[in-house]
Amino acid sequence: VLGRAQAKANANIALIKYWGKADEELIIPRSSSLSLTLAGLSTSTEVTFLESSERGGSRGPVDTLTIDDEPQTGKALERVSRFLDLVRDEAGISASARVSSYNTVPYGAGLASSSSAFAALAGAASKAAGLDLSERDLSRLARRGSGSACRSIYGGLVKWEAGHDDASSYATPVESDMDLALIVVLVSGQEKRISSRLAMRRTVETSPLYRAWAEQSAADLEEALGAIRDHDLERLGAVVEANALGMHAAMLAARPAICYWRPETLTAFEAVRSIREDGLGAWATLDAGPNLKVLTDGGKATAVADLLQARLPGVNIQVHRPGPGLRIMPSV
Ligand code: DP6
Repeated sequence: VLGRAQAKANANIALIKYWGKADEELIIPRSSSLSLTLAGLSTSTEVTFLESSERGGSRGPVDTLTIDDEPQTGKALERVSRFLDLVRDEAGISASARVSSYNTVPYGAGLASSSSAFAALAGAASKAAGLDLSERDLSRLARRGSGSACRSIYGGLVKWEAGHDDASSYATPVESDMDLALIVVLVSGQEKRISSRLAMRRTVETSPLYRAWAEQSAADLEEALGAIRDHDLERLGAVVEANALGMHAAMLAARPAICYWRPETLTAFEAVRSIREDGLGAWATLDAGPNLKVLTDGGKATAVADLLQARLPGVNIQVHRPGPGLRIMPSV
């Protein structure tokens, strides 16, 4: 064994969305974004780089990957191997790797599993390769695996500065003592029908509404940061919901259209709206999947979740609090 390390990262949910790349290879986004890293939606990953004799003397790195004990081949393994190549290049090694990863997030259900996955992989792989990266460089590295992963390096509220190249595109923490919670309304645990990667490319290339959304997003981010500074949850919630709906409007206008909404999504959305009309602050956001995430005050989250559950019988509803950023464990 050349080196081994473990890392654990939490998923983050965007409040102001990342949707659309300016550079597909380096994963530079077209707009900056803001997210909340959540406790309890995590990926734990161990990476072991092997001596050449340990892999039967085969030529070139042949990596192996298991996710939740299931051996992976094809696209998932390819994506991880390409990511590991970045780490190998930087560390000047050519060893193959054994990667095993465990999730507490249902894979591919639009619950941002790639954010925790590539943040944990960046931490474990860089450490196992002997690199000692700063948080900024970990964020830049995680970004190359999946854009949203650059934000999971940090806990709580996080801003991803779009930047214009590899060096200038990374996340930073947003200091705030606001007590926030996100309630996940799991209307479906099924895999998404179109990946966020393809969906965002099609939106950028074909949606006549995309430019308008991306421009508005810059203003939305400033509005959200201002609301956070002022501890104004009403203002924050309003802009968070509007930003997500605008993103989905741009997707609906893509050709062919992209629609992640299911009938249950709209039902849940109506429930959030009615709770808000009853005077409890609750605002919905949704990503590349049919599930809602409902932003509320931390102190009112349980009450809001109970009201949602009463209106949405049989739906899995869970309160998530802000959680910590990436933790890299010493190799064992
Ligand atoms: C809707 O980070 O999964 O969740 O960079 O292509 O891997 P890639 O995309 P990904 O996209 C996340 C999109 C989103 C919004 C967000 O998290 O900001």
